[in-house]
Amino acid sequence: MYLSKQKTFRAFTVLAFIVTFTMFLFGFTLRDPSLYFFKYAIRKSDSFFSNGQCGCRQCMTELEDDPWFTERFNLSVHPLLSRRNSLLTNDTYCWWQRLQDHKDPADFSEVVEKLFQVIPDNDKLYKDAGPERCRTCAVVGNSGNLKGSRYGPLIDSSDVIIRMNMAPTSGFEEDVGSRTTHHVMYPESAIDLDNTTILLLIPFKTLDLQWITSALTTGSIEETYVPVRSKIKANKNRVLIYSPAFFKYVHDTWLESHGRYPSTGFLSLLFAMHICDKVSVYGFGADRYGNWHHYWENNYHGGEFRKTGVHDADHENNVTLLLADKHKIYIFKGF
Ligand code: C5P
Repeated sequence: MYLSKQKTFRAFTVLAFIVTFTMFLFGFTLRDPSLYFFKYAIRKSDSFFSNGQCGCRQCMTELEDDPWFTERFNLSVHPLLSRRNSLLTNDTYCWWQRLQDHKDPADFSEVVEKLFQVIPDNDKLYKDAGPERCRTCAVVGNSGNLKGSRYGPLIDSSDVIIRMNMAPTSGFEEDVGSRTTHHVMYPESAIDLDNTTILLLIPFKTLDLQWITSALTTGSIEETYVPVRSKIKANKNRVLIYSPAFFKYVHDTWLESHGRYPSTGFLSLLFAMHICDKVSVYGFGADRYGNWHHYWENNYHGGEFRKTGVHDADHENNVTLLLADKHKIYIFKGF
């Protein structure tokens, strides 16, 4: 009798130890990069717990979803421009044209037609959501909080890796990773890409659509409101265009018209939320000292997207935190 009590007690002690240790490890792996291996294992187990809406444990849309989220999340607005959805409402067209107030824009539908003679027009892209799919995406902003984070392997383990503007990877692989599947840019922030990366252009004006057509062919456009690169290296079969209608939807619905227009990072985040099942966010916000610089800059006061005056960084930050609170996205705060 005494022996069996002792055995039960021992079994309980071992069980309690295992539970405590596992919980400790789980909490710890979220912070310590040297234990990311366990995090991969947790990520890979995602599909095992699938709830049926998608192949992941938690999906962007859930059966019993949060009303704040369902009021906003509209899958019928497609993130990409195609010939088929290029007929903009008057409201959208006027709002979009006013973003950078470019005088005498060319005829929009003619420009779109010429554009899709150079790049592919595929309006079915990413419309493959379903119970089988668990597409994990990393949205990598340019914040200095990535420096020293050692997030590289974790970022690289995502299916889709979205970077933006001038973001380099070379020399920063340990912190930001080395793979890029999508690079978001506009004419004034353009860089060369390799042959495999998808260029996702955010157009702010009709001229930007003319610019990408030209930059991939003749190189005739050298200036927008500033001098821009007349040619860029990119695979023209891997170019996508952010839809002006989706741009307006992000501004009106998700930011409730705060700021003049959303930042590249926020636009990329909403794109990811519409094409991915699980979205992880890196490189957003200040570093631990409150600096808003880029991870490749030593000058802590350089390149602050907050100071442009066109974005409402605080409101964007609040919405991003709310999304994380509701487990729609996962934020990695960096260092
Ligand atoms: O500065 P840039 O616009 O190239 O950065 C890309 C995006 O990264 C921004 O739009 C913003 O969303 C995010 N970012 C940030 N905090 C920083 C720098 C960039 O949140 N310190």
